[in-house]
This record gives sequence, structure tokens and C-alpha cells, in this order.
Amino acid sequence: EKGGYDHFMLKEIHEQPDAVKKTLMELQDIKEMVENFPKFNRICFVACGTSYHASLVGKYLFEGLVGIPTDVLLASEFEFSAGALDEKTLAIFISQSGETADTLRALRMANETAQTLAIVNVLGSTATREADHVIYTRAGPEIGVAATKTYVSQLTCICLLALSMAGEEKLLEDIQHVPDHMKLALEAEDQIREIAKKYKDAEDFFFIGRGYSYPTAMEGALKLKEITYIHGEGYAAGELKHGPLALIDDDVPVVAVVPPGDSHDKTLGNLQEVKARGASVIALGSSDDEVLKSEAHEMIEFSGELNEVLSPIVYVVPLQLLSYHMSVERGIDPDKPKNLAKCVTVE
Ligand code: F6R
Repeated sequence: EKGGYDHFMLKEIHEQPDAVKKTLMELQDIKEMVENFPKFNRICFVACGTSYHASLVGKYLFEGLVGIPTDVLLASEFEFSAGALDEKTLAIFISQSGETADTLRALRMANETAQTLAIVNVLGSTATREADHVIYTRAGPEIGVAATKTYVSQLTCICLLALSMAGEEKLLEDIQHVPDHMKLALEAEDQIREIAKKYKDAEDFFFIGRGYSYPTAMEGALKLKEITYIHGEGYAAGELKHGPLALIDDDVPVVAVVPPGDSHDKTLGNLQEVKARGASVIALGSSDDEVLKSEAHEMIEFSGELNEVLSPIVYVVPLQLLSYHMSVERGIDPDKPKNLAKCVTVE
């Protein structure tokens, strides 16, 4: 049932190009839904964990491309902001399981005032029965406790929704090629296994990125914590010098997410700052990026042209593989991390 892979997590990582292809087939339904939407003056995403990170990408999309003010709330914190929702708010609930207790509680509160939309993987789950609108991510069942293919499907769904609302037809064409970019990203696995062996005994990691790459950094850090038990912090690259730079020395590897685009040059500058303090830098960037290559100690390369807006769907892939291989190298079962459950049904 693991299809020849050692773990469900690895199988599910490799299933990601197909998972995204299936999500892309929702485009027509999403366009029809959007045509029937009233005019919203606010978007509010609500989610936990990895689904929260997918929501953070949604904020950049909705504010940057659709131009609607967007908040992203942790479901467990929702009650403190619920009063600011009204009938012109679209509250979007992101959940793999559709059963997370905090998310369901927030959905029930939001249903009293706002329009609600649930983006969910599990068919027929509670969230899909209670929300006003539903979009399925269609990634297929996910067995590994760490969310992987459902995350990229969530990102794809949110992109389809935002790009449809923004009328961004060119990006809607470009997104069709994302599964091919993901296949190429998976080809770096042998290199990533070597990097995993080299850094598996580190005690702390930093993951940095800006804009669309900031949630990717946060998700990379979460995957590291949950399946390797190593402390990882995802940080907005520009915030480093406001405190955490004091923690950086030659024992702390820094993973820098630096795709081509608006944020590239500034993140590169932050990378040089951590390097000057002795950190080993593992950079993720374009295979054409000679400057980045010359600055990084390890460089995970992405070939082909990819708009920065779509890069979160592709750039997370090597970070999942990095945590997976570090977990295995450390003798941990990545499918069953301690203290964690696939679905959190208590508040
Ligand atoms: C991390 C992970 C969790 C879930 C979170 C929300 O790999 O899987 O952080 O993302 O518990 O779960 P759902 O999406 O089912 O609401």
C-alpha cells in the first residue's frame, strides 16, 4: 500500500504533481462559484498548522492581485476577532480533514454573520456540511501525519480562487505547468539526502523568506519540528536583524528561500548577513541564479521559468524532502511523529 516507498510520507511527497493536477480540474467549478459571488469587501482565512501556512499565501494573492483586504487567523484565536466580520466578509476555512475542532468552532461562529467557504480534502467531512460554499482539494487520502500533498493542493485551490477573482488569465495558464515544475523539483532528492546527512545533528535551524516565500519558510520549519524533533524557526527575512540575528552562528544552518522575483535581492542581502556570522546557507533558487549559487554553501536549484506568485507550490517540495530524509537519518518514523495526531478533534 506504500507503493514501493519506505513511508507514506515519501509516497505522498512523490504524488504531489498528480495531486495538483487533480486540484487544477476544479477550475471550472471555481469560476462558476466566483461568478455568483456578491461583492466582498473583506476576506478572512481561518485555519491551523500547515493549513494556516497555505492561508498566509492566500493573503498575498488576495491583497496583491484581487485587491481585497485579507486577514489570516489561527482558528484557536478566531473568537477574539469574530466581532469584526459582517455579511460582506468571505470567511475561508482551510482544512485537510474538515474535522479540526478549533476550525469547526470558528466556522460555526462565522456562519452567524459572514459568507463561509470551506476548502477541504476529506469528502463529506463536517466542515463541508456546515459551510455555505465548498471546494474540494482532491489530493486523495493522506495517511502520513505530516501534511504534504494536501498542502500543495490547498495552495493550488487558493491560487485558482484568487486568480479567478482577479481575472488573471495568464497566470491561470501558467499554473497548468506547475505539476511539471514539481516533477523537476523532485529530481533533486539524491542531493537533498546528502544535505540531510550533513546537517542531521544540528540543534537549531532557521528558514527565511520574504513575501510569497515567507509562508514557505514557516512550513519548512514546521515540517522540521514535527518529524525530526529539531528546533526550526521560520522567519520573515527582513525581521532577522530585529532580534534573532543574535542566535546565528556557525552551528545554525539557515535555509533561504530565494526564487526570482520582487523579493529576490533583499533576501539575498539577508543571506549575506547570516553568512557573515558564520551560518551555513542552504539556498533554494533558480538554476540561472549565479550570484545565489556563489553565495550559498548548498544550492537546491529549480529550472524553468516560474512566476513568483506560483512558487510556493513548488519551492516547498525540497523542504519536505529535507525534513523527511533528516527524520529517517535520525532513526525516527516520519509517518508517526510523537505526540501528534492526524486530526486534532479537541480544542
Ligand atoms: C502539519 C499538520 C497539521 C495540520 C493541522 C490542521 O503537518 O498536518 O499542522 O495542518 O492540524 O489540520 P487540518 O488541515 O486537517 O484542519
